[in-house]
Amino acid sequence: MQNTVNQSIMPVTTKINNNGHLEIGGCDVVELAETYGTPLYVFDEETVRKCCQQYKEAFSSYSNVSTLFASKAFMTQAICAILKDEGFGLDVVSGGEIYTASSANFPMNRCYFNGNNKSSEELELALETGIGRITVDNFFEIDLLNSIAQSKNIQVDVILRITPGIECHTHEYIQTGHLDSKFGFDLTQVDEAIELIKERCPNLNLKGLHGHIGSQIFETYVYADLVEVIVAEFARIRDKFGITLEEMNLGGGLGVQYISEDDPPSIYEIAEVILTALRQNLVKYELPEPKIVVEPGRSIVSNAGVTLYTVGSSKQVPEGKKYVAVDGGMADNPRPAMYQAKYYGVVANKANEEAAETVTIAGRYCESGDILINDAELPETEPGDIICIYCTGAYNYSMSSNYNRVPRPAGIIVHDGQSDVIIKRETYQDLISLDVIPERLKKNNCHLV
Ligand SMILES: Cc1ncc(COP(=O)(O)O)c(C=O)c1O
Repeated sequence: MQNTVNQSIMPVTTKINNNGHLEIGGCDVVELAETYGTPLYVFDEETVRKCCQQYKEAFSSYSNVSTLFASKAFMTQAICAILKDEGFGLDVVSGGEIYTASSANFPMNRCYFNGNNKSSEELELALETGIGRITVDNFFEIDLLNSIAQSKNIQVDVILRITPGIECHTHEYIQTGHLDSKFGFDLTQVDEAIELIKERCPNLNLKGLHGHIGSQIFETYVYADLVEVIVAEFARIRDKFGITLEEMNLGGGLGVQYISEDDPPSIYEIAEVILTALRQNLVKYELPEPKIVVEPGRSIVSNAGVTLYTVGSSKQVPEGKKYVAVDGGMADNPRPAMYQAKYYGVVANKANEEAAETVTIAGRYCESGDILINDAELPETEPGDIICIYCTGAYNYSMSSNYNRVPRPAGIIVHDGQSDVIIKRETYQDLISLDVIPERLKKNNCHLV
């Protein structure tokens, strides 16, 4: 079966050019660093689009499929524009994501609103923008959403998020489908949730079920298990309540290759496992074909993104490691510190030089745990070298912070030799723009600029 974008560490357009520099999207990466500064998030448009097209193609043998992008992985107005163009919808999880999508003129009827503690303000915003579905997560939310919908006199299409009881072998912080997860209804609570909707929530239309089992998943069989659990629930609900549900949302979760040891399945393999399990179980339970929805995040954007850093200081520990420090780290990429995530990096201005040393690439933040890569094999590095860390398109910018009061990096998109800013670099002025000094503290000792 053909390989897909999530199975290769690098963006699809990655090359080494005649200057011996790394090239992505037809742009010399060293020139990008000079033009836009570092740290710099770089996204390859062709990789994102190719991945979207691979998802569409992989599910094309089934007539009723919606592909969404889980925008928590990377959310900006520009990515919304690309996904809209590729015919994707969005899985959104906050007022901020809803606001970003609607400000980018994204068709909001293609958006699903997920989350375990949505506020009334967020639910109201979702309904005002004409969101396609709300994925209800708990009993409190059923009541809350119904009362908001009643006050607006509108009908809302909902799906119930269930905890399917499937454990996948990923980091425990990104497992979500096991039984004591904070997300969704336990299977033993589904009937009560349906009764509540049927009997006391005239403004909610129950359309289907949602199950998401985790992230950075390499096993395919867990998706077959998920399909089986959901189809069995559809049959049980039909038999008990006489309701034929129309839609099953299988979440996201497909893993990507961060380092050469990672061996994720292709998008085609996952689709085949899902569709085979679906067809078998629909026959077994004598159910009509429902609409299926998938909402990958990481696998759409991770491999399209790289982060560029400039080398500054270095330190050789006597008889120990060599640390090479760069101008970013855990605030622009918290994953190594949070999940012990591993990455692969190269020196972009020495892209065709052999590795000459094993170094630890350290961030600039005031935490010993701020290490981007342990034991990186690099050509000899010197201050001013540009380090490119691959596969940083997902859960990097979206999880970034201003720790140590460092402005967030800029983000650009590259395509056919052209580069464009999609996220402006933050300034010191941006950092203080929301600070307020109360009048009574100004009098004495604050010398303000
Ligand atoms: C409900 C839901 N859907 C989709 C996703 C996207 O997962 P991934 O980025 O692993 O594809 C997540 C991420 O945790 C999620 O919680």
